[in-house]
Amino acid sequence: MKGIVLAGGTGSRLFPSARSISKHLFPVYDKPMFYYPISVLMMAGIREILLITNPESLPLMRQAIGTGSSLGIEIQYAVQPEPKGIAEALLIGREHIRGSRSALILGDNIFHGEGFEGLLSEAVSSDSGCTLFGCKVGDPRQYAVAGFGERGRFETLVEKPAAPQSDYAVTGLYFYDRDVVEIAENIAPSERGELEITDVNRVYLDKGRAELVTMGNEITWLDLGTEESLLEGSRYVSATARGAGVRVACLEEIALRMGFIGPEECYRLGEEMRNSPYGVYVMEAARRAAGVWQGAGV
Ligand code: G1P
Repeated sequence: MKGIVLAGGTGSRLFPSARSISKHLFPVYDKPMFYYPISVLMMAGIREILLITNPESLPLMRQAIGTGSSLGIEIQYAVQPEPKGIAEALLIGREHIRGSRSALILGDNIFHGEGFEGLLSEAVSSDSGCTLFGCKVGDPRQYAVAGFGERGRFETLVEKPAAPQSDYAVTGLYFYDRDVVEIAENIAPSERGELEITDVNRVYLDKGRAELVTMGNEITWLDLGTEESLLEGSRYVSATARGAGVRVACLEEIALRMGFIGPEECYRLGEEMRNSPYGVYVMEAARRAAGVWQGAGV
């Protein structure tokens, strides 16, 4: 399975902060925002990732994470010159995902919590055409919203409805079968001139091939599109680090847990950042994995 992170857009809802630097590079507590969606793909076991961003951010992201080889993954880069919709990512990334199943995630979405990795592995092994994740929200009008029929059957999907049929927002994480490129090639731009991901998902829904996984409140989903949600994201990551002692989306620790790298490699990555609490955490994770609690080496 291949992965795509879409970290494009102008970030105009976060101006002036996002005027000179993409919001996806903003720190969310201890790491850049775009690390969070990468962590989700890694937790799903996906190692071949295409990072799509705007021309200005590409060199900065490359500087931040490079080819991903130190994490045992392979990151390629592509540009979305103008924000023409989420579904455009499937066209920009068509060569990357052609012939494979794929997962697409938005560059500003954070997912974390008990049982989330289990949901990911179910999505990876599911045989439905597309798997979507629903989350109960206070104001569903800002999102794609799922509607349910008899016995809770997932029946409708509407982008930013004025009168939502439920409180379930469809999050920015999508798993697809091999047909998705062809489907994306055949949708027309919406009234706002964008290729809407909801139109792609609706094709699957209409064929009875879309599945919606509803996430309970043990899973936190945050869409960091506004100044308040950005702050909320940092608060959540900080509280989890200080409370449970766990750093959300620590790529080095995830790479270690997934078996993409070994403890020695992980320790080295932490050591490069040893002046930051994050770096120390990575070194500790490596030591724990190696079964060595004290002493200098791993
Ligand atoms: C986008 C999608 C929407 C989805 C949301 C999740 O909206 O269009 O379907 O529910 O992401 O983050 P945006 O945040 O770009 O307005």
